[in-house]
Amino acid sequence: MSLQNRDKKHLWHPLTQHKLQPNSIAVVKAKDCIITDENGNEYIDAISSWYTCMYGHCNPFITNRVAAQMQQLDQVVFSGFTHEPAIQLSEALIAILPENQNKIFFSDNGSTAVEVGIKMALQYHFNRAEKRNVLLAFEDGFHGDTFGAMSVSGLSVYNGPFEEFFIDVKRIPTPNGNNHEAILQKLQAIVSTNKVAGFVYEPLVQGAAAMKMYDADGLEMILKFCKINNIITIADEVMTGFGKTGKHFASLHLDTKPDIMCLSKALTAGLMPMALTTCTQAIYNAFYSDNMSMALFHGHTYSANPLACVAALASIELLQTEIIQHSIQSIIASHQAFDKRIKLHPKVKSTRQIGIIYALELNVEMERYGDLRNKLFNFYMENGVFLRPLGSTIYIQAPYVITPQQLEKVYAVIEESLSII
Ligand SMILES: Cc1ncc(COP(=O)(O)O)c(C=O)c1O
Repeated sequence: MSLQNRDKKHLWHPLTQHKLQPNSIAVVKAKDCIITDENGNEYIDAISSWYTCMYGHCNPFITNRVAAQMQQLDQVVFSGFTHEPAIQLSEALIAILPENQNKIFFSDNGSTAVEVGIKMALQYHFNRAEKRNVLLAFEDGFHGDTFGAMSVSGLSVYNGPFEEFFIDVKRIPTPNGNNHEAILQKLQAIVSTNKVAGFVYEPLVQGAAAMKMYDADGLEMILKFCKINNIITIADEVMTGFGKTGKHFASLHLDTKPDIMCLSKALTAGLMPMALTTCTQAIYNAFYSDNMSMALFHGHTYSANPLACVAALASIELLQTEIIQHSIQSIIASHQAFDKRIKLHPKVKSTRQIGIIYALELNVEMERYGDLRNKLFNFYMENGVFLRPLGSTIYIQAPYVITPQQLEKVYAVIEESLSII
């Protein structure tokens, strides 16, 4: 029996309506930018397996380091113990994070990184005897699937059955260059009637909202407003972190740095699940006390797993190499050239780019999970390219190691797909 058929017996997949989507593609291997299925079909991974494997699948520089670590120390409790991979990783990260970040807290996925950020912000005020019970977030943000992360996410498509259990969150629109005054007025109104603990945001680009990009000056204004009102700013860089926007972190494009940052995905280059919540010394100091109950009572079994730490260390080393930095610049330039030729196409409504993230908006009404979206997805797969359209948005977030020929194929297939809609 095929893997695809065996899968159906016991497995329940994420974000899947199994009655409508009974078949999952069974992948048997992945190398560099190519995923291979059980029938031998090859696909270029043009979204880096949800933005993780930026240095290519099964990159030997990373896998060899992890294999060596496996002989030394696999796992140990991180409460009361420490180890060199975690210490080295903290040192490597502090060297590249915005200069105000000074402490690093481990968990295992993007949602938990955000969950920890929210708890840090709420408890920061609580420990300072100033209870604040409301959070601030953007309208279309996505921050993950745990309850705190869902609460701050504005994309209702995922949240319907759970909304009545959420944390109280006030929402503001993303700045677009024309609505700054209106946002400021809304912020004033929110803080005059609520005790706002923190502001959770995806800096400059909202991934699940279909790679929606927004105005940096407007974000700067919001962050400054938060600082003045002692609202803890929490940058969710789960998607944008580690080079995607052309800088190591999206927050480095801004003058006002976040108090807290959430990182995952490309952190370990797709090899091991791990996440981090980093913060300033001032946040940490609010928890530092003779009183045990002021500590952050949050801990996951696999916190700072040594194998994941080593995968992250190798990834950060690769990120900083000249060859990867050069590849990032080449991809940026290729996207710009592609943009020139595609943006005038009658089926294209608009295009946008930040760093290696490129998105194209189709001139067609399309449901997020509708037939037309599925037709496009199937077309890409039949033509050997793994792209996941988000409604009427087609986006590329390819590994930094994609070859020019592979990237050209991704562009060509996107261009061809415009004739089937
Ligand atoms: C910005 C952002 N935050 C959080 C998450 C949640 O991460 P995870 O799926 O690892 O829980 C995602 C996932 O796509 C994301 O894009």
